[in-house]
Amino acid sequence: MAEDSHLPHAHLHDQAQTDEFHVRGKFASRMGFVLAAAGSAVGLGNVWKFPYMCGQNGGAIFILIYLFCIVFICLPAMIAEFTIGRHSQTDQVTAYSVIAPGKPWGLNGLMGLTSGFLILTFYCPVAGWMLASGVKMATGQYDTEGMDAAQMGAYFQEQGLNLITAANAWEPVFWMIVIMAITAGVIFMGIESGIERACKYLMPLLFILMIILIGFSLTRPGMSDGLTFLFKPDVTKLFNENGSFKFDIVLAGMGQAFFSLSLAMGAMMTYASYVDKKEHLGKLALQITFIDTMVALMAGVMIFPAVFAMGADPAAGPGLVLFTLPAVFLQMPLGHFGGTLFFLLLTVAAITSTISLMEPIVTWLIDGLNIKRLPATIMVLLGIIAFGIPVCLSATSGGLISLNIAGGETPMPLLDAVDYMAEFLMMPLGAFVICMFIAIGGWKRRTVLQEAAGEGNTPGKLLVLWYYAAITIAPIGTLLVLGHSTGVLRVIAPSLYGQ
Ligand code: PHE
Repeated sequence: MAEDSHLPHAHLHDQAQTDEFHVRGKFASRMGFVLAAAGSAVGLGNVWKFPYMCGQNGGAIFILIYLFCIVFICLPAMIAEFTIGRHSQTDQVTAYSVIAPGKPWGLNGLMGLTSGFLILTFYCPVAGWMLASGVKMATGQYDTEGMDAAQMGAYFQEQGLNLITAANAWEPVFWMIVIMAITAGVIFMGIESGIERACKYLMPLLFILMIILIGFSLTRPGMSDGLTFLFKPDVTKLFNENGSFKFDIVLAGMGQAFFSLSLAMGAMMTYASYVDKKEHLGKLALQITFIDTMVALMAGVMIFPAVFAMGADPAAGPGLVLFTLPAVFLQMPLGHFGGTLFFLLLTVAAITSTISLMEPIVTWLIDGLNIKRLPATIMVLLGIIAFGIPVCLSATSGGLISLNIAGGETPMPLLDAVDYMAEFLMMPLGAFVICMFIAIGGWKRRTVLQEAAGEGNTPGKLLVLWYYAAITIAPIGTLLVLGHSTGVLRVIAPSLYGQ
């Protein structure tokens, strides 16, 4: 039994095949899987990133593109990822070779692990900002009643409360390490089950708090401006002054959709390998996508009315949520308490995502390289701390550590550069390969459809539609994104850029 608790996903019922390398578990229930996958999907991407990306990319039009990508590109990619995971019943690197032996598809699994690692290095600093905000809220450091956006900005700066431009750059590093250590601790002790059980109650609580905040936001003076910004698309925002199309907005929408659904990183593939053979993967993917999208939209409705009411800039960037939310809470009865609880719950939501990023890497070290769980966990922890420190400092030091990977006029802080690399290069490429694997990985269409439908179910029309979307629209969409983010599209089709 002691051994069991050190297996990946020790909470899973270990009733499936057992061999000397692997003891494969299974989720005890459909609920367990949905919780784990939704726990991975719902996180900072929804509550922190979605509102600020939306603010920077034209509001409603960004949301439309985001929703289009979710339905036509990401949902098919998610079902594809689930199908490969469950069919192969193994980790994301080996999965491909179980289905297509002797071919190099497994490299895609390795790339997924690498992008997971990169995401951890910037995700943990941001999760640290949230935890720190909870602590600052609890200790009354955010008392900004009666101030407008400008005064509040000055106050945050003066008091050293703005973690992004923190006077003491090492403070965010401290919080980042706390988050990484908690994640590693959970993974080492194999207590994901405990976390999942806790999530059963904590996540609905976060949901309820968000609904209360939305109710409050909708009674604020900025309500109609906020809702117009979010839901009334302005198509002109898609074009530059010279009439050329703003690919950046499409890129942003698609990157956000991939990131938010935790795709092309192996997290979803790994979780799916533990799903009961009878489950319909299309239905599960729909549920998870629905929950994730709802939470993102709710975060938008919660934040934008307040942004407009305070006269803050919707395009303020990564600080938008950190800056706006405390102010909203403080206007509410029991605001200190509500705000503290909110930031702490958001930290829990972030940790369920960091677990899903770190666990596949640790599992791969254990299974693939025969390293024991403790040293494997410590290795990954030290690795993400070592890479995470410069990433974290790059945000605080005003771009001191910056890279020019997107070929823009100004180089980006390392934090943005790492995000760009993972989200706009590796994730779309990974998703492209996953879709291609469905198409030409060497398994029959019938096998793919049957696996996606689950044992004993007949694949319906929708699933057939999914199959064709996964081998046509989804790879074309991801290729377009890659073409843009690598600069290739600009060279081969300059007219698209009005050149
Ligand atoms: N989807 C998570 C979020 O929105 C982030 C994440 C990305 C987690 C990729 C795992 C893998 O916060």
